[in-house]
Amino acid sequence: MNTDKLLSDYKNIFNNNAERLFFSPGRINLIGEHTDYNGGNVFPCAISLGTYAAFGSRDDNTVQMYSANFPDQGIISFQTNELEFNKKDNWANYPRGIMYYLVKHGYKFDHGFNLFINGNLPDGAGLSSSASIELLMGTILNTVFDFGIDQIDLVKMGQEDENNYIGVNSGIMDQFAVGMGKKDQAILLDTNTMDYQYAPVQLENHVIVIMNTNKRRELADSKYNERRSECEKALERLQTKLDIKSLGDLTIDEFDQNSYLINDDTLIRRARHAVFENQRTLKAIKKLKQNDLVGFGKLINASHISLHYDYEVTGMELDTLVESAWRQPGVLGARMTGAGFGGCAIAIVEKNQVEDFKQNVGETYRNIVGYDADFYIAEISDGPKELLKVAK
Ligand code: GLA
Repeated sequence: MNTDKLLSDYKNIFNNNAERLFFSPGRINLIGEHTDYNGGNVFPCAISLGTYAAFGSRDDNTVQMYSANFPDQGIISFQTNELEFNKKDNWANYPRGIMYYLVKHGYKFDHGFNLFINGNLPDGAGLSSSASIELLMGTILNTVFDFGIDQIDLVKMGQEDENNYIGVNSGIMDQFAVGMGKKDQAILLDTNTMDYQYAPVQLENHVIVIMNTNKRRELADSKYNERRSECEKALERLQTKLDIKSLGDLTIDEFDQNSYLINDDTLIRRARHAVFENQRTLKAIKKLKQNDLVGFGKLINASHISLHYDYEVTGMELDTLVESAWRQPGVLGARMTGAGFGGCAIAIVEKNQVEDFKQNVGETYRNIVGYDADFYIAEISDGPKELLKVAK
């Protein structure tokens, strides 16, 4: 996004000059889906699509926020000591929740500010526009007010905001991927220990294509919470005999030997996905490190199959995109990414096949689903950062 445009858009809305510009990415997850709330491994990366902001300080204690993505909402105003959730303020609750938790953790705002936001992440597409804006706000406030907060603590505050303020019971993956992103690297995170390592994503002559179903994926309305509680139930039943804290503690053999304890067809399938996907993620990172891209792609395909049959979170739109992607020449692997039930899928596609790929998969999707899918090339990018400080 053009920085001059951000500055002039800010000026049009607030009638004075912005002082600083910031950016925060979105994310895709390469593999390790629905494992983060099961104490398992995830392997996401930040992407160059994300959320931009222009910031200007104020002398009073008023906060004014405007999003070019929600122009109908106009300017949303509140005082720095009015930080309770307010349903009518819609999208502004995401950044306001970060302010709420900063104050709760003992940080203080000695003045207000104006904030102009403009994002190029498709809204509701499962590329973590909410984590993007949470970490954007955390980064802006940490920088401008000099709070000196560790990046990991900002990540945790983002999750606190999402879970307790917004009320979506998600895991840590999205905020972590956004907050800790590094150019051309994916992050293997063990959500049990919070240990993590970066791994370069070198796909030789391939790129990652993001395929958007354009079917909105609303976490709060979806079966996300149902899946979480199914996994918790399965875990409780396993714990009658096993000394484990999460499904992520189990190897495949341990699961096979003890799955009878779960004694329920649906719950066994949910737990099986969590256990196998967790192990599959570790295998996938090994393949990537060995430069075995074909092996990596096969594990990506297997992840989708498990999410379809065992976890049942794919749905007709994602399946249509992924199954059509599998049939195209030059494709190493494809799967849904994120929570599922709509949103986006990814495919690893040979560079010189990308145009045909988009054409063919796009046509199949339109014929079967009845409307268009969108395609973007993923650029793996850094986490949140300041783009510009205007000289006074
Ligand atoms: C959503 C959640 C994440 C994670 C994924 C599924 O993106 O926000 O915490 O659970 O779904 O892997």
